This record gives sequence, C-alpha cells and structure tokens, in this order.
Amino acid sequence: MRVLAIFAFLGAAFAATADQDYEVNMKAAKSALDGISKALQAQAGSELAAGAEKMSDIYQKNFAFWTERKQGDAVKLSNDGIAALQALNGAAKASNWTEAGASFKKLRGTCAGCHDIHREKLPDGSYRIKQQ
Ligand code: HEC
Repeated sequence: MRVLAIFAFLGAAFAATADQDYEVNMKAAKSALDGISKALQAQAGSELAAGAEKMSDIYQKNFAFWTERKQGDAVKLSNDGIAALQALNGAAKASNWTEAGASFKKLRGTCAGCHDIHREKLPDGSYRIKQQ
C-alpha cells in the first residue's frame, strides 16, 4: 500500500513539473511571436528566420506534449503551426511578404485555436491547462 502511495505522489509531482515547463514554453511562444511580428513588419529576413526557428522548437515541444496526452486536436494544431512556420520561412526567403503575412496569420490562428480548447483562465487572471 505504502509503495503505491509513493508512486501516486511521484506521478502527481511529475505532472506538475510538466505543466510548469509548459507555461515556460508558452511564455517563450509569446516572445517569439512578438519577434516574428516585428521582423515581418520590418521585412527583416534574417530576424524572421531566427524567430521562426525558435518558434519551431516551441511547437516541436507542443507536439510532443500533446502527443503524450493523446489530444489529437492539439497535436494537429501543433502540426499546422509547424507547417505555417515552414511556409513563412520560405515566403520570407523569397521576399514574398504578402504570403509571409498570410502564413503568420495561420500561425497565430493555431495559438487561438488551441487556447480555445485547452486553456483555462483562473480567477486571479493566470492560466492553466484545462482539465479534460
Ligand atoms: C497546442 C496547444 C497550444 C498552442 C498551439 C499554443 N498554446 Fe499557448 N497555451 C496553451 C495552454 C494549454 C495554455 C495554458 C497553460 C499555462 O498557461 O500554464 C497556454 C498558455 C499560454 C500563455 C499564458 C502563459 C501563462 O500561464 O502565463 C501564453 C502567453 C500563450 N499560451 C501564448 C501562446 C502563443 C503566442 C501561441 C502561438 C504562437 C500559443 N500560445 C500556442 C496551449 C497552446
């Protein structure tokens, strides 16, 4: 019995750590998105590429996190984000800023899409992963 209790405790502690990592990842997503947005406005190709690379790492983590939790909708949104980033990068390299802008919109749509389904606002204004 005691052994089981310890395992249950470790399981909960592990889940809490993963959730905290997730929050760190999301704060990084916000700053990467701001960076990409600024680079896009300035039509600064190399900064845009750097921002897109950062964001790709974040989305890879997103993908792994939600794959582990078997949340297909979030996995798909993570994949859509990665595809949008690839398109964004390609368009920026070709100096096609109209297309880059459209890909940026798609990327942002994946933020909002996932937040609608999986994010929950707490009374103190902070966020957490919605419990399914
Ligand atoms: C596949 C799902 C998913 C995607 C995609 C996603 N998010 Fe999130 N995000 C969440 C969840 C779930 C939370 C709540 C967890 C938390 O805040 O601890 C969250 C929380 C946040 C927070 C609040 C962090 C905090 O707790 O203070 C910010 C800021 C954020 N996301 C920004 C973004 C931005 C910007 C993008 C797009 C570039 C994005 N997210 C894409 C799921 C997602």
